[in-house]
Amino acid sequence: MALKRHHYPRNELAVKAEGGPDPARFPQAKPAVLADCASAPAALAAPPALLEQPRLAPAAARLVFRLLDYKDVAEVRSFLTLLHAIGADLDPYHFEKTPELIDRAVIKARREENPSNTFAGLALDRGTIVAVHVLRRFEEGPFIGAQVSGLWVAPSHRQQGVARRLKAMGEAWARSIGAHFLNSNVLSQNAPMLALNRSLGFENYRINLRKRL
Ligand SMILES: CC(C)(COP(=O)(O)OP(=O)(O)OC[C@H]1O[C@@H](n2cnc3c(N)ncnc32)[C@H](O)[C@@H]1OP(=O)(O)O)[C@@H](O)C(=O)NCCC(=O)NCCS
Repeated sequence: MALKRHHYPRNELAVKAEGGPDPARFPQAKPAVLADCASAPAALAAPPALLEQPRLAPAAARLVFRLLDYKDVAEVRSFLTLLHAIGADLDPYHFEKTPELIDRAVIKARREENPSNTFAGLALDRGTIVAVHVLRRFEEGPFIGAQVSGLWVAPSHRQQGVARRLKAMGEAWARSIGAHFLNSNVLSQNAPMLALNRSLGFENYRINLRKRL
């Protein structure tokens, strides 16, 4: 059974000034800043909101948090393999991704993704990826949104504040590109993820109903 994944527009045009969001409804709306690859890490470090880093448990203090290095093919492959495996436990529609699918995803990511359209963050423990988080820019009429495409923390590193730290990095990126909102689709039985999102201010917006045929 072929399951269609969400499609994200490739068009990365900045939002037009006229007809933009109502500032009263979106008080944090800012003009879109399409950072280039070189300036994006600086943009990540710059917003004041990021200065308040969520605390990590002492056991996670040695972890390195940074953006995915798209020049490192092996790292991109490891990252995407982990990303594509998310939900395997909980999702009855999860399917194993073939090496060929991962190959194509690596090529596509290296060709199309950059800090103007994608946040790809990770945590490393002594050189091994132990957490991944991806957000993608999309447009909804006059609004810029950032869609959460995945968040995963290795079981050995959970409940130490790792997801919270990556979420903060992703949100700072979304603000830096002028996003008006974050969007996240979470399986209804994923209590930890729902709790984390709600604690960060996410509210129910749409309910995704599915009927098995
Ligand atoms: C959900 C997940 C990313 C949380 O990662 P984590 O690093 O353990 O999360 P943190 O330590 O940063 O915890 C942040 C918050 O998440 C919630 N949380 C985390 N684990 C939880 C658990 N087992 N039960 C309930 N709430 C939990 C809590 O609200 C917690 O805040 P608190 O510590 O102040 O109580 C991780 O469990 C995971 O990778 N799960 C499998 C993949 C997945 O479901 N991804 C989401 C797909 S949409």
